[in-house]
Amino acid sequence: MRSSIIVIPFLLFFLPNVIDKPAADTEKAWEKYSVSKVLKALGDDSYWEIDESIKGVSAQKGYELFHTGFITSERGTKKRKQSKHFVCTSCHNVVKEELDLTKADPEKRLEYTYANDLPFLQGTTMYGAVSRRLFYNDDYEKKYGDLVFAARENIREAIQLCAVECAQGRKLADWEIESLLAYLWTIDLKISDLQLSSDELTSLQASLDGEITDNGPIIETIKSKYLDGSPAHFSDPNIDRALYGMQAGNADNGQKIYESSCLHCHKNQRYSYFNLDTTQMSLRYLKNRINKYNDFSIYQVVRYGVHSIPGRKSYMPHYPLEKMSQQQLLDLRAYIEQKG
Ligand code: HEC
Ligand code: HEC
Repeated sequence: MRSSIIVIPFLLFFLPNVIDKPAADTEKAWEKYSVSKVLKALGDDSYWEIDESIKGVSAQKGYELFHTGFITSERGTKKRKQSKHFVCTSCHNVVKEELDLTKADPEKRLEYTYANDLPFLQGTTMYGAVSRRLFYNDDYEKKYGDLVFAARENIREAIQLCAVECAQGRKLADWEIESLLAYLWTIDLKISDLQLSSDELTSLQASLDGEITDNGPIIETIKSKYLDGSPAHFSDPNIDRALYGMQAGNADNGQKIYESSCLHCHKNQRYSYFNLDTTQMSLRYLKNRINKYNDFSIYQVVRYGVHSIPGRKSYMPHYPLEKMSQQQLLDLRAYIEQKG
């Protein structure tokens, strides 16, 4: 599950702005086509343009910063690691997490991430982030207050907010933010992800060929195939506790959550001082604390997260309902109780 540094096809990023007609009207032919680039070619103007006037901006550097925390300036100076505690991939995937992009369904997401050997995390995937318009939605305002106002409709502010508040690291310089944005353009949604019908693909092609004068309807169609922001509603651990005994948990599903979520950060103390593994000792430790009202009860850690303590800046982000449903929390409990 550990993401390794690979050379990704940055060429895509340099695709000409005028989109050529794909060779055939098959889904496959659309795999290369970034949704935001297609929308731009269709005349839609609501996209996050990269500011080329900032010196030193590079998608490759953005990639390095995102995956390793390190970045080297144009003059060759290696900058201080962005965060001592995390890298962006501690909490965000960079590939697709769900097949149906029109809703945030945690059960479907787990099914998909588990089948594709991806971690199941508190943050939304950055795949397709440049096609979103809204960030830190709904209840995130409760967590970050006024900070959210700047970030909600501005992807650059969203990146900065996350670097400082989520990753607990240093503030990013403009060229670093722009490089991250350039990297995010390389992992935009592709037209083939949208599951357009063959009729829709045909009219998209006709629009790109200039055969249709009004591109409004096809722009609308494309935008209806994915969410323009990731919904986030918080739950109260006591409400989740109350469900125990009323609804049964599924231990097999709980095991998937434990392994692809909790262990992503806690195995071998990867991003936390607190070690967890699949031994009975670990699971019993959690089991004995389920009914407590402190930072060792799964209810509290999942719904409130774990705050940093003085002298230690790392903290655990909580899971909104869209990232772990009430049923999934029951499933996690069932697994811990069965094995602990
Ligand atoms: C400790 C966990 C954590 C780390 C580390 C982290 N993030 Fe986030 N990030 C989150 C959470 C949680 C959200 C809340 C919104 C969401 O993603 O659903 C978020 C939101 C975002 C958003 C807005 C996404 C949206 O759709 O609302 C961006 C952009 C972002 N992060 C970029 C980054 C970048 C770039 C880094 C590395 C410098 C980073 N994050 C590191 C947890 C993290
Ligand atoms: C994104 C990384 C991440 C994920 C995913 C994660 N944790 Fe954590 N967790 C942390 C960090 C960081 C801390 C803060 C304490 C530290 O720095 O060691 C923490 C703290 C905790 C604590 C309190 C430990 C203490 O010393 O106060 C418990 C218990 C815990 N996590 C359990 C879980 C469980 C159960 C899951 C899965 C549902 C989980 N964690 C998922 C990163 C994570």
